[in-house]
Amino acid sequence: MTEQKIFLDAYTADVLLRAIETRSDFVEVSLDLGLSTTSVSLKEQSWDIESLTKVSENRDSVYFIDGGEFYQAAVSTDHYYRLFRSEGSTVPALMIDGVLMHRIKDVHPWQDAKMKANLCARKGFKMLEICTGLGYSTIACLGKDIQSITTIEKDENVIKLAQINPWSRKLFSDNRVQLINGDAISEIKKLNRNQFNAVLHDPPRFSMGSELYALDFYQEIYRVLKQKGILYHYVGNPGSRYKKKDIPKGVLKRLREAGFQDVTKREETLGVTARK
Ligand SMILES: C[S@@+](CC[C@H](N)C(=O)[O-])C[C@H]1O[C@@H](n2cnc3c(N)ncnc32)[C@H](O)[C@@H]1O
Repeated sequence: MTEQKIFLDAYTADVLLRAIETRSDFVEVSLDLGLSTTSVSLKEQSWDIESLTKVSENRDSVYFIDGGEFYQAAVSTDHYYRLFRSEGSTVPALMIDGVLMHRIKDVHPWQDAKMKANLCARKGFKMLEICTGLGYSTIACLGKDIQSITTIEKDENVIKLAQINPWSRKLFSDNRVQLINGDAISEIKKLNRNQFNAVLHDPPRFSMGSELYALDFYQEIYRVLKQKGILYHYVGNPGSRYKKKDIPKGVLKRLREAGFQDVTKREETLGVTARK
């Protein structure tokens, strides 16, 4: 069995610092970002107060301890990827170069993923997800008792961050998941036609990936869906505009052009559903 890392955010660091200050023997705290709670003996385990203070000061960051050292849950390449701790939820969001990839206003990423899965995942379904991210929507679909899910993520650094994140564990441990590290634009062309009961399409905002909102990509989604198969497509803010274009209106039009029926706005998730 692999050893589970200790994860800390500012809120857990506060609890530990207070317990140390008041010389408590034990403290109840979560060391996995809210997935579970643990009773920590402050007598048996000594804590690096300087590092805990740094964690406490960086309110929206996530840290883990490895070999006694504190590390930020982040990947730095030409771009900067990190887990983002919002005020309202222990479930971290994905942030790339300062841009959030999950909703944190009104809804937290886990709830959002469940709402999306509710709109397209059903027991026994064979599913395709486009844009894995941290795997929250994949995991939400698994929770609906689906048969399998193929999920495509372009960015290997996002996958590395998901490998760190305790909330993403099922993405790697559940054998119903096939994770493809590749560009959905080319990967979807390799998939057989008429094979999925549902597609969950969760792209970044239009300005960061307009090709994922294009007619020829929608035609590919249509091709791989079974007859009467369901599409859920995250679109973003209603009324959002990019280069003077009305994004949601264009999405509805192109989905119909691709052959989809029952194209319906789903305001609660800022998306649309449709049927082949
Ligand atoms: C909004 S996030 C997805 C959130 C995810 N569904 C979750 O539940 O955590 C968008 C993701 O799409 C990925 N992405 C962007 N363009 C892509 C493409 N062409 N093919 C596959 N993945 C892509 C980004 O790297 C990012 O991780």
